Amino acid sequence: MSAKDCTPAPKFSLNDISQSILDTEYAIRGTIPTRADELQEQLNISPNQLPFKKIIYANIGNPQQLEQEPLTFQRQVLSLVEYPNLVNSKNILVENKIYAPDAIKRAETILNSIGGSVGAYSSSQGILSIRKNVAKCILQRDNDELCCNDEELINETASNIFLTDGATTAVSYILPLFAKDENCGVLLPIPQYPLYTAAVTLQNSKLLPYYLNEDENWSTDPEEIETIIKDAISRNIKPTTLVIINPGNPTGAILSVESITQIINIAAKYGIVIIADEVYQNNIYQDFKFHSFKKILNSLKLQYPKKYDNVQLASLHSISKGVNGECGQRGGYFELLGFSDEIKKIILKLASIDICSVVTGQILVDLMSKPPEKGDYSYKLDQRERNNIQSNLILKSNTLYDLFSRLPGISCQKPQGAMYLFPRLHLTSNMINEAKLNNLEPDEFYCLKLLENTGICTVPGSGFGQKEGTYHVRTTFLPSGIEWIKLWEKFHLEFMNQYK
Ligand SMILES: Cc1ncc(COP(=O)(O)O)c(C=O)c1O
Repeated sequence: MSAKDCTPAPKFSLNDISQSILDTEYAIRGTIPTRADELQEQLNISPNQLPFKKIIYANIGNPQQLEQEPLTFQRQVLSLVEYPNLVNSKNILVENKIYAPDAIKRAETILNSIGGSVGAYSSSQGILSIRKNVAKCILQRDNDELCCNDEELINETASNIFLTDGATTAVSYILPLFAKDENCGVLLPIPQYPLYTAAVTLQNSKLLPYYLNEDENWSTDPEEIETIIKDAISRNIKPTTLVIINPGNPTGAILSVESITQIINIAAKYGIVIIADEVYQNNIYQDFKFHSFKKILNSLKLQYPKKYDNVQLASLHSISKGVNGECGQRGGYFELLGFSDEIKKIILKLASIDICSVVTGQILVDLMSKPPEKGDYSYKLDQRERNNIQSNLILKSNTLYDLFSRLPGISCQKPQGAMYLFPRLHLTSNMINEAKLNNLEPDEFYCLKLLENTGICTVPGSGFGQKEGTYHVRTTFLPSGIEWIKLWEKFHLEFMNQYK
């Protein structure tokens, strides 16, 4: 056909896109953060045009965007594996104190185990030596001290671990597995991290929300979960998967041993797969304790042999959170328990289609799982850096929590873990009406005004789901310093006064 005869066909429009893609939302990078980016552009052009000098991105758990320093040991090893020629000059590097000797040794070990280059694909499940270090770390975490030198157990545990490009990829493998048709249901906590509602919408499953109890510090109510399951079954929906986020995002709540036990009992009774999103397992505050689903499941199995053999658990972890905060490097893992070999083969097939996860991300998983130990050259500095990050987070979390506890028109549960506060806004009818006039949800209106007056970028509770008639705002406590917290206080008092 010649150009002369070719009448151009129309481009694709939204009408050509599947409804599930159109319906999918992700508030963390939604309207408020988009407005924040526009304001940032304005500030770049004309720094004095707005009532603030910079945007304070409290909308996303992205620690290194907000000045959290990477851990020195991790970055030393990472830079050496990226450029192995440096290792050839190790004497100069050590003598001049540019690199720690144990970082060089670790980089050599890693380079040997990956065949010399981070530029090569690895096995699809992930580098075996790294999976073994993850296995040992999990055994130690769950106080299996006796077992963490048991080679056979380490090998078996490693065979159930898949290294991924962060927890998000783990979700993309496991969540769609049991969504065979539109009648399959996924139980999700509300409020939840919006990746889950987005993924359930995309895969066309039925969303089965269970509400967390705000008045009891966002606790999970297993009885309510069972009621929802029974109700779904009565409507011919097959609940296949139950998502738990522990510690919670956005709530910061940690599940008790009792709740975990009851949830496992429900999973055993109804044959439901548990996805335990445990990415915040190292962000634990004050006197709280994290209990992994794996640990509780194993102890139940010991007490009641055979009763829990059908329980299928996928536990997720990531380098993005905790003191690592390496969100941009994309690394994480999931561990499978109780899945049949045929299902594991399918998961491996999915991982194989992606070829392999980012190799440097895998190496960061290795470094997260096996940090410098007592007596190692880097141990003291590494500990100091970890403690600084942790105490800084606790300070900011407490300062924000204190503010929300004393301000009028806002109330907040004390965070137990994770990186967020999810205070409730007690808005007057004046505020709600004003929001409606602006075609906004009331909490979106609050977040927009907060942004436009102070530069603080947060996410409205509606993006995470909330009980009808309640309004919340999610903020991280990651931004540096506490000046921004004072700005928030001033804004809030003026806002309450304006719409009383
Ligand atoms: C509960 C939860 N799960 C998963 C993720 C995604 O983590 P990753 O960066 O490992 O993909 C996040 C990110 O904020 C999260 O809060």
